[in-house]
Amino acid sequence: MTETLSATAYRTIPAGELRAEHAGSPARLAGWVHRSRDLGALVFLDLRDRAGLVQVSFDPTWTPADVLAAARELRAEDVVQVEGTVERRIKVNPNLPSGEVELRATGLRVLTRAEATLPIQVDYAADEELPAEDLRLRYRYLDLRRPELQRNFVTRHRAAHSVRNFLSGEGFLEIETPVLTKPTPEGARDFLVPSRVHRGEFYALPQSPQLYKQLLMVSGFDRYYQIARCLRDEDLRADRQPEFTQIDAEMSFVDEEDVFRVGEGMMATLWRDVLGVEIETPFPRMTYVEALARYGTDKPDLRFDLPVVDVTEILQRSEFRLFQSTMGTAQRIRGIRVPGGARMSRRETDELQDVAKRGGAGGALWVKRGEDGLSGQFAKALDEATLNAFLGVTGLEVGDLFVAVVGPFRSARMGLDEDGRVPTGLEAAADELRRHLARKMNLVDESKHAWLWVTEFPLFDWDPEAGRLVSAHHPFTMPHLDDVLALFAATEGEGTISADDARRLYTLPMRSRAYDAVYNGNEMASGSVRIHDPELQRRIFRSLGIGEQEARTKFGFLLEAFRYGAPPHAGFAFGLDRIAMLLARATSLREVIAFPKTNSARALFEGAPTPVASGDLRDLHIRTLGE
Ligand code: AMO
Repeated sequence: MTETLSATAYRTIPAGELRAEHAGSPARLAGWVHRSRDLGALVFLDLRDRAGLVQVSFDPTWTPADVLAAARELRAEDVVQVEGTVERRIKVNPNLPSGEVELRATGLRVLTRAEATLPIQVDYAADEELPAEDLRLRYRYLDLRRPELQRNFVTRHRAAHSVRNFLSGEGFLEIETPVLTKPTPEGARDFLVPSRVHRGEFYALPQSPQLYKQLLMVSGFDRYYQIARCLRDEDLRADRQPEFTQIDAEMSFVDEEDVFRVGEGMMATLWRDVLGVEIETPFPRMTYVEALARYGTDKPDLRFDLPVVDVTEILQRSEFRLFQSTMGTAQRIRGIRVPGGARMSRRETDELQDVAKRGGAGGALWVKRGEDGLSGQFAKALDEATLNAFLGVTGLEVGDLFVAVVGPFRSARMGLDEDGRVPTGLEAAADELRRHLARKMNLVDESKHAWLWVTEFPLFDWDPEAGRLVSAHHPFTMPHLDDVLALFAATEGEGTISADDARRLYTLPMRSRAYDAVYNGNEMASGSVRIHDPELQRRIFRSLGIGEQEARTKFGFLLEAFRYGAPPHAGFAFGLDRIAMLLARATSLREVIAFPKTNSARALFEGAPTPVASGDLRDLHIRTLGE
């Protein structure tokens, strides 16, 4: 894809598009002074527009004296128009696409001037440190002029463009949904907008178009999509913004496989269009339980393998006290074989302790396999039979390291503890170790594009504070077919279920038909097959402690619509910002959002949020509490 700029009243061609083929022809350019060099008799400047840079040379041989004098006065970021002839450069600049030519200036017009002192520069060398991000955000319009950021937005534009083309080709209609809405059920806090007309009443800004897109399926549109702005008042991280954009889609008469085909087709097309990379489809599928057991996380980075293996039954038989103590308990011994890891130094193996602790484990244990057998913490505790079984299961070869953690791994079951608590396991420790070891051993193949679908997410989470079930995805997610009977059995009757019944329900391994798309260890999309049966929806609300009245108030419009013929439907939402960030190889969403918020949800450039005049508040029937 190329996005060429056209000739306009101010230019005959974009500056950055000049090439050798233009040599000998006249040209008029317009843009910013990127940098200028006054060499006494001559002046060189790099002129910048969105298309790139080109050298403009002012030389008494071809430049009139008054033009040369004016060129001497130019400062970085002045906006100018220059006229002249394109000629081949004596010294080619191989780092610049326009580097074979220059514009020999005969005329110059200053369109606007920039102040002599810029709060931040635009021109930085590749190895130069950028100013603090707060300052860059404060002067965002200058920061955005940097070619690197300009490129990020070209990438983002291409991504959105590719998605639109692809989805349109698959029969999706782009339909807009409201921004002033009722609260949506995504689980974060809503941003609220007070109504002036209706005293004491509020709109909610959408956390996603979830309810509307389901309504559009009931309305018979069959396939909807929208590049939709979503707003969530939640704690921010590098990969989260309070305002972000989803590629949101919904389809009728489909199951998971239909949705996956569209989602992976869309990503394969996107990667081809933007990066020129072929990614393999179909993506691998893996259940949530399998992902947690094998990789310790529901978003495994499959650019490297390093699976987690369970060695509980084997190592329990060893002479190692900690391992023996797991006998008859729910504790497990799990670890990772690190090919070539035996060459790790003492300092590096010590470091593994801290990594495991970060993931909630007490520490990590390791052995190395050398030419003359095992060495390391529990090497001596294995008799021959145990050693053989251990080597058999782990596949540990000469030169390898095995690092283990001991504790409660929960991945094989979803549900509450016997004592009614949300179980936390050592999956996080295994995940930390796995990612750390991959980096340390250089096992991450940066050229790989490892996508997968993680399926069958749990239906419910447990909210320990409220002591009740909450939806793991959202309340419109279809339960797994094999678990529906158990759900019905547990939710007989009217009203909401008791806290005890909710607890009991949570101890069942209830699966849902929710899925995520994962790319190189990042959650890129979520979605699910939705409930389209009013009775099943009622049972889910009952389980979640949402009574008929509350359900009617919150989601009445959707429930009512379901009474008049709802098609089976399913959908997904991909995070466009995350996609753009990873395509651009940026490390923060702020690098691909034109005017982002800081980590404390402030807009530094325009200065929001701000207090408002008390009169304005009065109109909205609002009084703020003092500090
Ligand atoms: P979910 O809440 O998982 O699902 O969001 C879908 C995708 O949106 C992106 N995302 C974010 N990106 C940046 N900043 C954030 N704060 C943020 N939150 C989410 C992620 C995520 O995978 N309605 C459902 C989708 C559905 O069921 O169809 C939903 O919104 O990439």
